[in-house]
Amino acid sequence: MSKKIRVGMIGYGFMGKAHSNAYRQATKFFPDLPYEPELKVFCARNEERANQFASNWGYDHVEKDWRKVVESEEVDLIDICAPNNMHKEIAIAAAENGKWVLTEKPLSMNVAEGEEMVTAVKKAGVPNMVWYNYRRIPAVTLAKNIIDKGSLGKIFHYRANFLQDWTISSDLPQGGEGLWRLDVNVAGSGVTGDLLAHCIDTAMWLNGPITEVTAVTETFIKERQHNITGKVEKVGIDDACAFLAKFENGSIAIFESTRYARGHKALYTFEINGENSSIFWDLHDLHRLKYFDHGDDALTRGWRDVHVTDSEHPYMDKWWVPGLNIGFEHSFTHGVADFFASAKSDKPAQPDFQNALQTQKVCEAVINSGNSRKWENTNVEL
Ligand SMILES: NC(=O)c1ccc[n+]([C@@H]2O[C@H](COP(=O)([O-])OP(=O)(O)OC[C@H]3O[C@@H](n4cnc5c(N)ncnc54)[C@H](O)[C@@H]3O)[C@@H](O)[C@H]2O)c1
Repeated sequence: MSKKIRVGMIGYGFMGKAHSNAYRQATKFFPDLPYEPELKVFCARNEERANQFASNWGYDHVEKDWRKVVESEEVDLIDICAPNNMHKEIAIAAAENGKWVLTEKPLSMNVAEGEEMVTAVKKAGVPNMVWYNYRRIPAVTLAKNIIDKGSLGKIFHYRANFLQDWTISSDLPQGGEGLWRLDVNVAGSGVTGDLLAHCIDTAMWLNGPITEVTAVTETFIKERQHNITGKVEKVGIDDACAFLAKFENGSIAIFESTRYARGHKALYTFEINGENSSIFWDLHDLHRLKYFDHGDDALTRGWRDVHVTDSEHPYMDKWWVPGLNIGFEHSFTHGVADFFASAKSDKPAQPDFQNALQTQKVCEAVINSGNSRKWENTNVEL
Protein backbone atom coordinates (compact mmCIF):
# COMPACT_ATOMS: atom_id res chain seq x y z
CA MET A 1 0.00 0.00 0.00
CA SER A 2 1.43 3.38 -0.94
CA LYS A 3 1.30 6.22 1.57
CA LYS A 4 -0.51 9.41 0.56
CA ILE A 5 1.62 12.55 0.31
CA ARG A 6 -0.51 15.68 0.33
CA VAL A 7 0.75 18.25 -2.16
CA GLY A 8 0.63 22.04 -1.70
CA MET A 9 1.27 23.61 -5.12
CA ILE A 10 2.30 27.25 -5.48
CA GLY A 11 1.80 28.93 -8.87
CA TYR A 12 -0.56 28.15 -11.77
CA GLY A 13 1.56 29.16 -14.74
CA PHE A 14 3.42 26.96 -17.18
CA MET A 15 5.10 24.85 -14.51
CA GLY A 16 2.05 24.67 -12.23
CA LYS A 17 0.31 22.82 -15.05
CA ALA A 18 3.30 20.65 -15.96
CA HIS A 19 3.73 19.48 -12.36
CA SER A 20 0.01 18.98 -11.65
CA ASN A 21 -0.16 16.79 -14.75
CA ALA A 22 2.91 14.87 -13.55
CA TYR A 23 1.41 14.14 -10.11
CA ARG A 24 -1.75 12.90 -11.84
CA GLN A 25 0.16 10.64 -14.25
CA ALA A 26 2.89 9.30 -12.00
CA THR A 27 0.99 6.76 -9.94
CA LYS A 28 -0.96 5.53 -12.98
CA PHE A 29 2.16 4.75 -15.00
CA PHE A 30 4.48 3.96 -12.07
CA PRO A 31 2.04 1.94 -9.92
CA ASP A 32 4.68 0.53 -7.54
CA LEU A 33 5.74 3.82 -5.95
CA PRO A 34 5.85 3.81 -2.13
CA TYR A 35 4.05 7.17 -2.04
CA GLU A 36 1.00 8.49 -3.82
CA PRO A 37 0.52 12.23 -4.37
CA GLU A 38 -2.79 13.74 -3.33
CA LEU A 39 -3.47 17.20 -4.80
CA LYS A 40 -4.51 18.96 -1.59
CA VAL A 41 -4.01 22.73 -1.67
CA PHE A 42 -3.45 25.03 -4.58
CA CYS A 43 -2.06 28.52 -3.97
CA ALA A 44 -2.16 31.65 -6.13
CA ARG A 45 -3.10 35.23 -5.40
CA ASN A 46 -6.00 35.59 -7.85
CA GLU A 47 -8.79 33.62 -6.19
CA GLU A 48 -11.01 33.22 -9.23
CA ARG A 49 -8.19 31.89 -11.41
CA ALA A 50 -6.89 29.78 -8.55
CA ASN A 51 -10.33 28.19 -8.16
CA GLN A 52 -10.51 27.46 -11.89
CA PHE A 53 -7.07 25.88 -11.82
CA ALA A 54 -7.82 23.85 -8.68
CA SER A 55 -11.06 22.51 -10.09
CA ASN A 56 -9.48 21.67 -13.46
CA TRP A 57 -6.63 19.67 -11.91
CA GLY A 58 -8.57 18.30 -8.93
CA TYR A 59 -7.03 20.13 -5.95
CA ASP A 60 -9.08 19.86 -2.79
CA HIS A 61 -9.10 23.58 -2.01
CA VAL A 62 -7.44 26.94 -2.64
CA GLU A 63 -5.34 29.23 -0.48
CA LYS A 64 -4.25 32.75 -1.47
CA ASP A 65 -1.28 33.14 0.91
CA TRP A 66 1.63 30.71 0.42
CA ARG A 67 2.61 31.14 4.09
CA LYS A 68 -0.59 29.43 5.16
CA VAL A 69 0.15 26.54 2.80
CA VAL A 70 3.65 25.92 4.14
CA GLU A 71 2.30 25.99 7.72
CA SER A 72 -0.74 23.82 6.97
CA GLU A 73 -1.13 20.53 8.83
CA GLU A 74 -2.94 19.23 5.74
CA VAL A 75 0.14 19.40 3.51
CA ASP A 76 3.21 17.12 3.43
CA LEU A 77 4.99 18.44 0.33
CA ILE A 78 5.43 21.95 -1.06
CA ASP A 79 6.01 22.36 -4.78
CA ILE A 80 7.26 25.82 -5.81
CA CYS A 81 6.23 26.86 -9.33
CA ALA A 82 6.49 30.60 -8.67
CA PRO A 83 9.09 32.96 -10.16
CA ASN A 84 12.73 32.72 -9.10
CA ASN A 85 12.71 35.50 -6.50
CA MET A 86 10.21 33.50 -4.42
CA HIS A 87 12.03 30.16 -4.32
CA LYS A 88 14.24 30.89 -1.32
CA GLU A 89 11.67 32.28 1.08
CA ILE A 90 9.07 29.60 0.36
CA ALA A 91 11.56 26.72 0.36
CA ILE A 92 13.12 27.71 3.68
CA ALA A 93 9.71 28.24 5.33
CA ALA A 94 8.55 24.87 3.98
CA ALA A 95 11.65 23.07 5.29
CA GLU A 96 11.29 24.74 8.70
CA ASN A 97 7.76 23.36 8.84
CA GLY A 98 9.05 19.87 8.07
CA LYS A 99 7.61 19.70 4.55
CA TRP A 100 9.21 17.88 1.65
CA VAL A 101 10.30 20.57 -0.81
CA LEU A 102 10.45 20.61 -4.57
CA THR A 103 11.33 23.80 -6.36
CA GLU A 104 11.52 24.79 -9.97
CA LYS A 105 14.88 25.77 -11.42
CA PRO A 106 17.03 27.73 -11.04
CA LEU A 107 17.44 26.86 -7.36
CA SER A 108 17.71 30.54 -6.42
CA MET A 109 18.50 34.08 -7.55
CA ASN A 110 22.18 33.63 -6.64
CA VAL A 111 24.65 31.38 -4.81
CA ALA A 112 24.21 33.05 -1.40
CA GLU A 113 20.47 32.33 -1.47
CA GLY A 114 21.07 28.79 -2.68
CA GLU A 115 23.45 28.13 0.21
CA GLU A 116 20.79 29.23 2.70
CA MET A 117 18.30 26.87 1.05
CA VAL A 118 20.72 23.94 1.21
CA THR A 119 21.36 24.63 4.90
CA ALA A 120 17.61 24.77 5.60
CA VAL A 121 16.73 21.43 3.97
CA LYS A 122 19.74 19.73 5.54
CA LYS A 123 18.89 21.05 9.01
CA ALA A 124 15.26 19.95 8.63
CA GLY A 125 16.28 16.60 7.10
CA VAL A 126 13.50 16.82 4.51
CA PRO A 127 13.55 15.22 1.04
CA ASN A 128 14.16 17.89 -1.62
CA MET A 129 14.66 18.20 -5.36
CA VAL A 130 15.04 20.85 -8.08
CA TRP A 131 13.12 20.31 -11.34
CA TYR A 132 15.95 20.12 -13.86
CA ASN A 133 13.66 17.95 -15.96
CA TYR A 134 15.81 17.43 -19.06
CA ARG A 135 17.78 14.74 -17.22
CA ARG A 136 14.61 12.66 -17.37
CA ILE A 137 13.94 12.71 -21.08
CA PRO A 138 14.65 9.07 -22.01
CA ALA A 139 17.13 9.94 -24.79
CA VAL A 140 19.10 12.18 -22.39
CA THR A 141 19.06 9.49 -19.67
CA LEU A 142 20.27 7.03 -22.30
CA ALA A 143 23.14 9.41 -23.13
CA LYS A 144 24.07 9.35 -19.42
CA ASN A 145 24.01 5.53 -19.34
CA ILE A 146 26.21 5.32 -22.45
CA ILE A 147 28.73 7.79 -21.01
CA ASP A 148 28.78 6.05 -17.62
CA LYS A 149 29.62 2.75 -19.35
CA GLY A 150 32.73 4.48 -20.72
CA SER A 151 31.67 4.01 -24.35
CA LEU A 152 32.86 7.46 -25.42
CA GLY A 153 36.37 6.95 -24.03
CA LYS A 154 38.16 10.14 -23.07
CA ILE A 155 35.84 13.10 -23.60
CA PHE A 156 37.28 16.12 -25.41
CA HIS A 157 34.38 18.42 -26.28
CA TYR A 158 30.96 19.46 -24.96
CA ARG A 159 28.79 21.86 -26.97
CA ALA A 160 25.35 23.14 -26.01
CA ASN A 161 22.86 25.72 -27.30
CA PHE A 162 19.54 26.96 -26.01
CA LEU A 163 18.07 29.38 -28.56
CA GLN A 164 14.77 31.29 -28.58
CA ASP A 165 13.42 34.35 -30.38
CA TRP A 166 10.57 35.81 -28.32
CA THR A 167 12.08 39.06 -26.93
CA ILE A 168 13.27 40.68 -30.16
CA SER A 169 10.60 43.40 -30.19
CA SER A 170 11.58 46.56 -28.31
CA ASP A 171 7.86 47.12 -27.61
CA LEU A 172 7.77 44.08 -25.35
CA PRO A 173 7.46 45.30 -21.75
CA GLN A 174 9.29 43.80 -18.77
CA GLY A 175 7.91 42.61 -15.44
CA GLY A 176 4.62 41.20 -14.19
CA GLU A 177 2.79 38.09 -15.26
CA GLY A 178 4.44 36.17 -18.05
CA LEU A 179 7.20 38.79 -18.44
CA TRP A 180 8.89 38.52 -15.04
CA ARG A 181 11.74 36.74 -16.87
CA LEU A 182 12.82 40.14 -18.27
CA ASP A 183 12.92 41.78 -14.83
CA VAL A 184 16.27 41.11 -13.16
CA ASN A 185 14.83 41.69 -9.68
CA VAL A 186 12.47 38.75 -10.16
CA ALA A 187 14.48 36.49 -12.47
CA GLY A 188 17.99 37.04 -11.05
CA SER A 189 19.49 36.88 -14.54
CA GLY A 190 18.34 36.47 -18.13
CA VAL A 191 19.13 33.55 -20.40
CA THR A 192 21.89 32.38 -18.06
CA GLY A 193 19.59 31.40 -15.18
CA ASP A 194 16.60 30.62 -17.37
CA LEU A 195 18.04 28.58 -20.23
CA LEU A 196 21.75 27.97 -19.73
CA ALA A 197 21.02 26.67 -16.23
CA HIS A 198 19.34 23.69 -17.93
CA CYS A 199 22.34 23.18 -20.23
CA ILE A 200 24.78 23.45 -17.31
CA ASP A 201 22.82 20.99 -15.18
CA THR A 202 22.74 18.44 -18.01
CA ALA A 203 26.41 19.04 -18.84
CA MET A 204 27.69 18.48 -15.30
CA TRP A 205 25.43 15.45 -14.88
CA LEU A 206 26.82 13.91 -18.08
CA ASN A 207 30.41 15.11 -18.02
CA GLY A 208 31.31 16.10 -14.45
CA PRO A 209 32.13 19.42 -12.79
CA ILE A 210 32.76 22.64 -14.72
CA THR A 211 35.71 24.34 -13.07
CA GLU A 212 36.30 27.58 -15.03
CA VAL A 213 34.32 29.79 -17.42
CA THR A 214 34.77 32.87 -19.56
CA ALA A 215 31.67 34.58 -20.91
CA VAL A 216 30.32 37.33 -23.10
CA THR A 217 26.87 38.59 -22.19
CA GLU A 218 24.77 41.22 -23.99
CA THR A 219 21.59 43.14 -23.33
CA PHE A 220 20.40 44.18 -26.79
CA ILE A 221 17.43 46.25 -25.66
CA LYS A 222 18.59 48.47 -22.84
CA GLU A 223 15.27 49.89 -21.62
CA ARG A 224 11.74 48.57 -21.55
CA GLN A 225 8.46 49.75 -20.11
CA HIS A 226 7.83 48.02 -16.76
CA ASN A 227 4.40 46.43 -16.46
CA ILE A 228 4.10 47.06 -12.73
CA THR A 229 5.62 50.56 -12.31
CA GLY A 230 4.42 51.79 -15.73
CA LYS A 231 7.81 53.52 -16.20
CA VAL A 232 10.49 52.91 -18.81
CA GLU A 233 13.25 51.17 -16.85
CA LYS A 234 16.74 49.83 -17.48
CA VAL A 235 16.83 46.17 -18.49
CA GLY A 236 19.12 44.30 -16.08
CA ILE A 237 19.07 40.81 -17.57
CA ASP A 238 21.40 39.21 -20.09
CA ASP A 239 19.48 38.84 -23.37
CA ALA A 240 22.22 36.62 -24.76
CA CYS A 241 25.19 34.79 -23.33
CA ALA A 242 27.99 32.70 -24.81
CA PHE A 243 30.65 31.10 -22.67
CA LEU A 244 33.64 28.80 -22.87
CA ALA A 245 34.18 26.32 -20.08
CA LYS A 246 36.69 23.80 -18.79
CA PHE A 247 35.58 20.58 -17.13
CA GLU A 248 37.48 18.85 -14.36
CA ASN A 249 38.03 15.83 -16.68
CA GLY A 250 40.08 18.00 -19.08
CA SER A 251 37.40 18.47 -21.75
CA ILE A 252 36.44 21.92 -23.00
CA ALA A 253 33.03 23.35 -23.83
CA ILE A 254 31.15 26.05 -25.64
CA PHE A 255 27.66 27.11 -24.54
CA GLU A 256 25.37 29.65 -26.18
CA SER A 257 21.94 30.97 -25.33
CA THR A 258 19.83 33.85 -26.58
CA ARG A 259 16.23 34.98 -26.99
CA TYR A 260 17.19 36.78 -30.23
CA ALA A 261 17.79 33.84 -32.61
CA ARG A 262 14.99 34.53 -35.09
CA GLY A 263 13.28 31.30 -36.06
CA HIS A 264 14.27 29.29 -32.99
CA LYS A 265 11.66 28.62 -30.29
CA ALA A 266 13.36 26.22 -27.89
CA LEU A 267 16.36 24.82 -29.71
CA TYR A 268 18.21 23.02 -26.94
CA THR A 269 20.93 20.80 -28.36
CA PHE A 270 24.06 19.21 -26.97
CA GLU A 271 26.90 17.27 -28.58
CA ILE A 272 29.67 15.38 -26.82
CA ASN A 273 32.78 14.16 -28.61
CA GLY A 274 34.91 11.40 -27.08
CA GLU A 275 37.89 9.47 -28.43
CA ASN A 276 35.68 6.48 -29.42
CA SER A 277 32.20 7.91 -29.96
CA SER A 278 30.07 11.02 -30.13
CA ILE A 279 26.53 11.79 -28.98
CA PHE A 280 24.09 14.46 -30.19
CA TRP A 281 20.64 15.34 -28.83
CA ASP A 282 18.06 17.94 -29.91
CA LEU A 283 15.00 18.97 -27.86
CA HIS A 284 12.99 19.52 -31.06
CA ASP A 285 13.38 15.79 -31.74
CA LEU A 286 13.63 14.71 -28.13
CA HIS A 287 12.99 10.97 -28.51
CA ARG A 288 16.03 10.52 -30.76
CA LEU A 289 19.68 10.14 -29.79
CA LYS A 290 22.32 10.44 -32.48
CA TYR A 291 25.33 8.21 -31.84
CA PHE A 292 28.56 7.78 -33.82
CA ASP A 293 30.82 4.85 -32.95
CA HIS A 294 34.29 4.89 -34.50
CA GLY A 295 34.54 1.14 -33.71
CA ASP A 296 31.85 0.27 -36.28
CA ASP A 297 32.77 -1.41 -39.57
CA ALA A 298 34.39 1.32 -41.67
CA LEU A 299 32.23 0.49 -44.69
CA THR A 300 28.96 1.19 -42.91
CA ARG A 301 30.19 3.54 -40.18
CA GLY A 302 28.08 6.65 -39.73
CA TRP A 303 25.80 8.51 -37.32
CA ARG A 304 23.15 6.17 -35.91
CA ASP A 305 19.74 7.62 -35.20
CA VAL A 306 18.40 5.79 -32.16
CA HIS A 307 14.65 6.10 -31.69
CA VAL A 308 14.53 5.92 -27.90
CA THR A 309 11.18 4.17 -27.55
CA ASP A 310 12.08 0.52 -26.91
CA SER A 311 11.21 -1.05 -23.59
CA GLU A 312 14.96 -1.50 -22.91
CA HIS A 313 15.36 2.29 -23.00
CA PRO A 314 15.17 4.38 -19.80
CA TYR A 315 11.58 4.82 -18.50
CA MET A 316 10.06 3.45 -21.74
CA ASP A 317 8.85 0.14 -20.29
CA LYS A 318 6.30 2.25 -18.38
CA TRP A 319 4.75 3.80 -21.50
CA TRP A 320 3.48 2.66 -24.90
CA VAL A 321 4.57 -0.07 -27.27
CA PRO A 322 8.01 0.27 -28.94
CA GLY A 323 8.09 2.91 -31.66
CA LEU A 324 5.63 5.30 -30.00
CA ASN A 325 6.92 8.59 -28.63
CA ILE A 326 6.44 10.35 -25.36
CA GLY A 327 7.13 14.09 -24.91
CA PHE A 328 8.30 17.03 -22.81
CA GLU A 329 5.65 16.62 -20.11
CA HIS A 330 6.74 13.06 -19.32
CA SER A 331 10.09 14.33 -18.03
CA PHE A 332 8.13 15.81 -15.11
CA THR A 333 6.20 12.57 -14.57
CA HIS A 334 9.56 10.80 -14.37
CA GLY A 335 10.67 13.45 -11.87
CA VAL A 336 7.73 12.68 -9.58
CA ALA A 337 8.31 8.93 -9.95
CA ASP A 338 12.05 9.15 -9.19
CA PHE A 339 11.52 11.54 -6.29
CA PHE A 340 8.86 9.38 -4.64
CA ALA A 341 10.73 6.13 -5.33
CA SER A 342 13.78 7.39 -3.47
CA ALA A 343 12.48 10.07 -1.09
CA LYS A 344 13.51 8.24 2.06
CA SER A 345 16.43 6.28 0.66
CA ASP A 346 20.18 6.78 0.99
CA LYS A 347 20.26 7.74 -2.69
CA PRO A 348 17.65 10.49 -3.10
CA ALA A 349 16.63 11.60 -6.60
CA GLN A 350 18.90 14.20 -8.13
CA PRO A 351 19.41 17.06 -8.43
CA ASP A 352 18.66 17.79 -4.79
CA PHE A 353 19.28 21.33 -3.51
CA GLN A 354 22.94 20.57 -2.79
CA ASN A 355 23.50 19.30 -6.32
CA ALA A 356 21.55 22.16 -7.96
CA LEU A 357 23.73 24.63 -6.04
CA GLN A 358 26.59 23.49 -8.29
CA THR A 359 24.68 24.77 -11.33
CA GLN A 360 23.95 28.01 -9.47
CA LYS A 361 27.68 28.45 -8.90
CA VAL A 362 28.45 28.04 -12.59
CA CYS A 363 25.65 30.49 -13.54
CA GLU A 364 27.04 33.06 -11.13
CA ALA A 365 30.59 32.61 -12.42
CA VAL A 366 29.26 33.08 -15.99
CA ILE A 367 27.51 36.35 -15.09
CA ASN A 368 30.60 37.53 -13.16
CA SER A 369 32.82 36.69 -16.13
CA GLY A 370 30.49 38.60 -18.48
CA ASN A 371 31.10 41.64 -16.29
CA SER A 372 34.80 41.14 -15.51
CA ARG A 373 35.71 39.87 -19.01
CA LYS A 374 38.04 37.40 -17.33
CA TRP A 375 38.11 33.64 -16.70
CA GLU A 376 36.31 32.93 -13.42
CA ASN A 377 36.59 29.88 -11.16
CA THR A 378 33.22 28.30 -10.55
CA ASN A 379 34.05 27.01 -7.04
CA VAL A 380 31.92 23.92 -7.64
CA GLU A 381 32.64 21.02 -5.29
CA LEU A 382 34.81 18.42 -6.98
N1 LIG B 1 11.86 23.09 -15.80
C1 LIG B 1 11.46 23.81 -16.84
O1 LIG B 1 11.52 23.37 -17.99
C2 LIG B 1 10.88 25.17 -16.61
C3 LIG B 1 10.14 25.79 -17.63
C4 LIG B 1 9.55 27.02 -17.35
C5 LIG B 1 9.74 27.63 -16.13
N2 LIG B 1 10.49 27.03 -15.16
C6 LIG B 1 10.66 27.66 -13.84
O2 LIG B 1 9.40 27.56 -13.16
C7 LIG B 1 9.17 28.72 -12.36
C8 LIG B 1 7.85 29.33 -12.79
O3 LIG B 1 7.91 29.62 -14.17
P1 LIG B 1 6.61 29.59 -15.11
O4 LIG B 1 7.07 29.58 -16.51
O5 LIG B 1 5.67 28.54 -14.64
O6 LIG B 1 6.05 31.03 -14.77
P2 LIG B 1 4.62 31.62 -15.02
O7 LIG B 1 4.77 33.09 -15.11
O8 LIG B 1 3.92 30.86 -16.11
O9 LIG B 1 3.87 31.26 -13.63
C9 LIG B 1 4.31 31.77 -12.39
C10 LIG B 1 3.23 31.56 -11.38
O10 LIG B 1 3.66 32.04 -10.07
C11 LIG B 1 2.56 32.72 -9.49
N3 LIG B 1 2.97 33.63 -8.43
C12 LIG B 1 3.75 34.73 -8.54
N4 LIG B 1 3.83 35.32 -7.33
C13 LIG B 1 3.10 34.57 -6.45
C14 LIG B 1 2.78 34.65 -5.06
N5 LIG B 1 3.23 35.68 -4.30
N6 LIG B 1 2.03 33.69 -4.46
C15 LIG B 1 1.56 32.65 -5.21
N7 LIG B 1 1.80 32.53 -6.54
C16 LIG B 1 2.58 33.47 -7.15
C17 LIG B 1 1.95 33.45 -10.68
O11 LIG B 1 0.64 33.88 -10.40
C18 LIG B 1 1.94 32.33 -11.72
O12 LIG B 1 0.86 31.46 -11.52
C19 LIG B 1 10.37 29.63 -12.59
O13 LIG B 1 11.28 29.47 -11.54
C20 LIG B 1 10.97 29.14 -13.90
O14 LIG B 1 12.36 29.38 -14.00
C21 LIG B 1 11.04 25.82 -15.39
